[in-house]
Amino acid sequence: MHAFHFDTLWHHSGAMEMVVTNLSDDTVVAPSLYYGSITRTLMPSKAEGGRFVRRQANYHEYAADETMALASGAQWHVTEHSLTRAAVHSNEGPKSGAILLSSGETGKTFVTDLQAAAPQRNEASEASDLRCGVLPQAQNISVENYHAQTPPHLLVRGDLNLQREASKVSALTRRLHPLVPVPFVLAAPQGTIEVSAKSSELPDDSYAIRFAGGAIEISHGAGQGLFYALVSLAQMMTYAQLDPKTYALPREGEISDAPRHGWRGAHLDVSRQFYKLGKVLRYVDIMAWHKMNRFHWHLTDDEGWRLEIKAYPKLTEQASATGMMESILPQLGADAAGQRGFYTQDDARHVIDQAGELGIEVMPEIDLPGHCACVVGAYPELLDTEEELESYHSVQGFGNNALNPAMDLSYTFSEKVLGEVCDLFPFDVVHVGGDEVADDAWMKSPKAEAMMKETKLKGTFELQAHFLRHLQQFLASRGKSIGGWEEMAHGGGVKTENCLLFAWTTVEKTAELAEAGYDVISTPGQAYYLDMAQSSDWCEPGASWAGVTPVTQTYSFEAQNDSPALAKHLKGVQGCVWSEHLTTMERVNHMVFPRLSAIAEAGWTDAEGKDFGRFETIARLMPRL
Ligand code: ACM
Repeated sequence: MHAFHFDTLWHHSGAMEMVVTNLSDDTVVAPSLYYGSITRTLMPSKAEGGRFVRRQANYHEYAADETMALASGAQWHVTEHSLTRAAVHSNEGPKSGAILLSSGETGKTFVTDLQAAAPQRNEASEASDLRCGVLPQAQNISVENYHAQTPPHLLVRGDLNLQREASKVSALTRRLHPLVPVPFVLAAPQGTIEVSAKSSELPDDSYAIRFAGGAIEISHGAGQGLFYALVSLAQMMTYAQLDPKTYALPREGEISDAPRHGWRGAHLDVSRQFYKLGKVLRYVDIMAWHKMNRFHWHLTDDEGWRLEIKAYPKLTEQASATGMMESILPQLGADAAGQRGFYTQDDARHVIDQAGELGIEVMPEIDLPGHCACVVGAYPELLDTEEELESYHSVQGFGNNALNPAMDLSYTFSEKVLGEVCDLFPFDVVHVGGDEVADDAWMKSPKAEAMMKETKLKGTFELQAHFLRHLQQFLASRGKSIGGWEEMAHGGGVKTENCLLFAWTTVEKTAELAEAGYDVISTPGQAYYLDMAQSSDWCEPGASWAGVTPVTQTYSFEAQNDSPALAKHLKGVQGCVWSEHLTTMERVNHMVFPRLSAIAEAGWTDAEGKDFGRFETIARLMPRL
């Protein structure tokens, strides 16, 4: 989060007013401010509220009086009257800047656009076919009229929490839609429409917004309600700027809104293609803009291990690479030479922190016992040496790629890895995969044979369930629930308590797991796997095992029916982004959007609120990776 928020106002008298809001918890004594601005101070400075310290070309520095104490939530105003030129565009004020603390440290500062003190018009539009630009669609929208002209910014006035949330949503909007003005400022010329907020008895993630001419009032529940209200307002402001013939800011009326499902997930496979940290952070931003709240980070698979594990350094030194000299030869990556890449634990903390600020929990997936080809490549001692090589193959063609439940080392390895994962990720579900172990895995392992004799466990899936139940117990001892794909129910399955399963192979699977007593997330390949091709056209990219999935099919899919088991156990919906075919960002964008937007709407909006025509129009404007 930014510790400071920095607004600037252009005065037609020829002065520029800098307003710094302290968003940190601490009182800051005698701060300085620096920024880069093409509208420069002309020597000698005629500043009020601060002392000019120095300038080099566009770099400017001002200091507060030595006795000045800027309390948490308070504002520091500096007005410079001596400038080289008059500003005529919003990009001619400070572009970036920061607060210098007396300790010598720099406070992270969000800088908004230069505002002109133009009088705001506050008239109702005569157009009759305008609407609110929000996606997912809000549950109840009742608007009497819209503003004829969308103001560039809204002035947010309220306590520190509101100021922080508004500044955060402005920063999010800037990252996703850098060509439109930021929606919220904390200082503005007179006449700017004001936003206030109060907490109310509404459920946690619910909110209402009342529009009354020059004032906008939010009421919200105690959870993410305020954040979601501000995201809705930010979207309305943004899309009214981008498509003013269709969208406008309500002038009088009310919106009340609440999510349909608690789990609104998006998954990303970073194993088959490695995406750099910046892309992962942007994915999280895009999720937040869609009010999605669970990031399922698929960190490991046969083709590459992507998370630093201190106990097993070869996972990132070796298992994170494919190549001609590696144990895993080049696979489906874009580069014939193979690929290499992983996230350090600090990188993961960065993602967790940014996601957390945006109301998103990060669920890591460490895929066990299958999908471990790169793991056993780096640590061959994890294989039963007496088991014939390539004695079984996964559906993807990897030989002997599953940790063997008859080997102690499989448990030691899994516990050490999951132990570090539990320490790193605060979310209370850890996903351990459990998918796609070959039907005949371990059946030629003498150790597995001996174990089956001794324990009376029969066949691959009973051995698998034994191993996964052990992991479930281990995770419980660390205060976590186990997450996994639907195969976790095979061979007797894991326990239904403290467990969340992800139904993927068929549409019917969600209800089947619910009827077996499992809490379940619906992510059927036939609707929510975004690696499926969108048509049967030869040139349309994608996989086809679940058929073709045009956006209309994703949009119209309903996970919920009148099954009582689903009413009890369906926890939400999720889009899965498997990356075997996603070799370029152009392809990622073509395949993920707008289908991910459709899933976000399914997670948030009741079935009655769905309308494909309305959805399609706004989905085109949504940000891409
Ligand atoms: C999966 O698609 N293997 C869960």
